[in-house]
Amino acid sequence: MKLVVPRETRSGESRVGLVPESVKKLVQAGATIVVQRGAGEAAAFPDAAYEAAGATLESDVGKLLAEGDFVCKVNAPSVAEAEQMRPGAMLIGALYPSRHLAAVRKLAARNITSFATDLIPRITRAQSMDTLSSMANVAGYRAVLLAATALPRYFPMLMTAAGTVTPVKVFIIGAGVAGLQAIATARRLGAAVTATDVRPEVKEQIESLGAKYVGIELKESAQAGGGYAKELSAEDQARQAQMLADQCAVVDVVITTALIRGVFAPKLIKAETVQKMKPGSVIVDLAAEGGGNCELTEPDRTVVKHGVTILGPTNLPSEVGHHASLLFSRNLTTFVLTFWKDKQFNLDLNDDILKGATLTHAGQVLHAPTREAIEKAGPNA
Ligand code: NAI
Repeated sequence: MKLVVPRETRSGESRVGLVPESVKKLVQAGATIVVQRGAGEAAAFPDAAYEAAGATLESDVGKLLAEGDFVCKVNAPSVAEAEQMRPGAMLIGALYPSRHLAAVRKLAARNITSFATDLIPRITRAQSMDTLSSMANVAGYRAVLLAATALPRYFPMLMTAAGTVTPVKVFIIGAGVAGLQAIATARRLGAAVTATDVRPEVKEQIESLGAKYVGIELKESAQAGGGYAKELSAEDQARQAQMLADQCAVVDVVITTALIRGVFAPKLIKAETVQKMKPGSVIVDLAAEGGGNCELTEPDRTVVKHGVTILGPTNLPSEVGHHASLLFSRNLTTFVLTFWKDKQFNLDLNDDILKGATLTHAGQVLHAPTREAIEKAGPNA
């Protein structure tokens, strides 16, 4: 089976779907790997490293896509890329189907079997394939570094001949994968960290990282299962909004990561809350791509409102391209090798992981919410 790795075409993307370490593993398992020349360059994986790992290089991306049995990508393909793939081929990547309806329709029309890593169920057996967690981890780390750079203050406490500087106060909203990594990173930089979440079981995790938990007693559980939260009741929302406003008013940095059912970002920081924050403070809104947790966030822009700098980065993993690619590629390789049999990928749609991850197959869009969204969008999808 021929696995092919095109260079990513998303603007500003530095990551690559497979890194040389994974190429070596897959070649040992009997796969043939062809990599587009320069595909790993932006992530500091040179062509020579791919060749040394057993891949061959191809300059013509059209030829690469037309001849690949299994296309390994980071981002969803463009419609043009989907058109170049061989009918009947397979594709894997973080496809985020609800944001790429036209490409999904094209994949189905071309009879491509596509797997969206963002649809892989968050179950124990699939943990090592979970690109969402790997990338959220990178984003949590990077968000703190961005905040530290934008903030006109030191993070740690410093004792100098000119007197003592107190540590900055950082508030993390949402302690899932990105939030926990943000807590750990802010602590390593010497900040005093508080964090909140609506799932009570994360209190212990927050405290074990050296941060202080703040939260409200919920009248209604916000557990949605699988480590996901559901939307709060109107009463709990109002009480939480007050708590968040009080916290935001006394800290220097707010990092928001709140996500509901893995898809939708609740608007937790109101414009009037920003207005009451300290001058010079910084908000990093990791949920910018899903609509943002702050009312004033603008995706991929840095805006200053009421003296507060608000950052809405949507592709932080690309800023740590080498390690983000390494982790992404390991997730992809585990996925492929888990279903590898007789040097082929064995599509067993009774398997829970494949059932969840398969987006298009045999001309159909199998993921119901995406199918419905495409039907609703009609020809405009
Ligand atoms: P996750 O689902 O593991 O964590 C989200 C957390 O938010 C959960 O613990 C949930 O209980 C909590 N939450 C939900 N509603 C809340 C509320 N009202 N108040 C407080 N907490 C609440 O998600 P993960 O994987 O950690 O991702 C976090 C965010 O980072 C997502 O929005 C994701 O899209 C984003 N992300 C952004 C990237 C970027 O470059 N900007 C890259 C990767 C992820």
